[in-house]
Amino acid sequence: MKLGNTPYHHNLTSDSERLAGFFEAIQEKAKGTVFDLGTGSGILSSWAAQYADRVVAVEINRSASKIAQRNLEDFNNVEVVHTDASEYQFSTKADVIICEMLDTALIDEEQIPVLNSALKYLKEDGIIIPCGIINCLEPVESTCEHISYEEDGFPENSVLGEPLFYSRLMFGKHIEPKFKQRFMIKINRKGIVTGLKLTTFTLITEKIICGPTPMLNPPLIIPLKKLKVVENDLLEVNLSYEMGGGLESVRARAEKIHPKP
Ligand SMILES: C[S@@+](CC[C@H](N)C(=O)[O-])C[C@H]1O[C@@H](n2cnc3c(N)ncnc32)[C@H](O)[C@@H]1O
Repeated sequence: MKLGNTPYHHNLTSDSERLAGFFEAIQEKAKGTVFDLGTGSGILSSWAAQYADRVVAVEINRSASKIAQRNLEDFNNVEVVHTDASEYQFSTKADVIICEMLDTALIDEEQIPVLNSALKYLKEDGIIIPCGIINCLEPVESTCEHISYEEDGFPENSVLGEPLFYSRLMFGKHIEPKFKQRFMIKINRKGIVTGLKLTTFTLITEKIICGPTPMLNPPLIIPLKKLKVVENDLLEVNLSYEMGGGLESVRARAEKIHPKP
């Protein structure tokens, strides 16, 4: 990129682990007409433009869209549009939609509302990058008192139970933003459960899976009422949130299941 980014987009474009998977996917899949929803600095569009006939790069943030405009001005097949991608009426359909508005479990960014409304502009054999996500949850003992993302090992936490891969979402069809489910989790270590740790893995393509990176889905710790546990205890967990609804939409509750005598 030629010009300075906002600090947020600078961090995004410095996260080489996040970018490597997108670069590989775009190199392999970009063709025809590509929409890049939430283009930010324009980095993913600049790669797509080298393989596609036409790229429409959409960005809601005014200063980011201006930066994208300048960063992409040398490509005569890219159009930058400053608007809300969930409301934009595209004049054609896309062969490929790139949409990196990811957040852990898709809660705090608009991936799902934006893709739900953009799906009508994807050709029947069109593809989406990334193509989906897998969510995992684990019971943890942690110092964390408020819902927070794990960064550089903080808030400190130790896992007390088996990981539960609780959902796999593929982006090619409408996804209900409201999530609500009850799970059983098995404890495998004595301790005090104080929270749930949510980890999201990104399927950039069916073959490129990216775990959390500093700027892509850092694990989310959700506090719970404290529960003393020992090995083989079973916890019943109720978890709900709205994808795109923000962290304030998250509700979590856990109780120990007492086996019948
Ligand atoms: C995680 S950043 C990704 C930026 C860039 N695609 C990249 O990979 O570096 C998500 C971008 O989506 C933009 N965005 C969020 N909601 C949007 C919406 N409804 N319409 C268009 N852009 C949106 C944000 O302003 C932000 O620049």
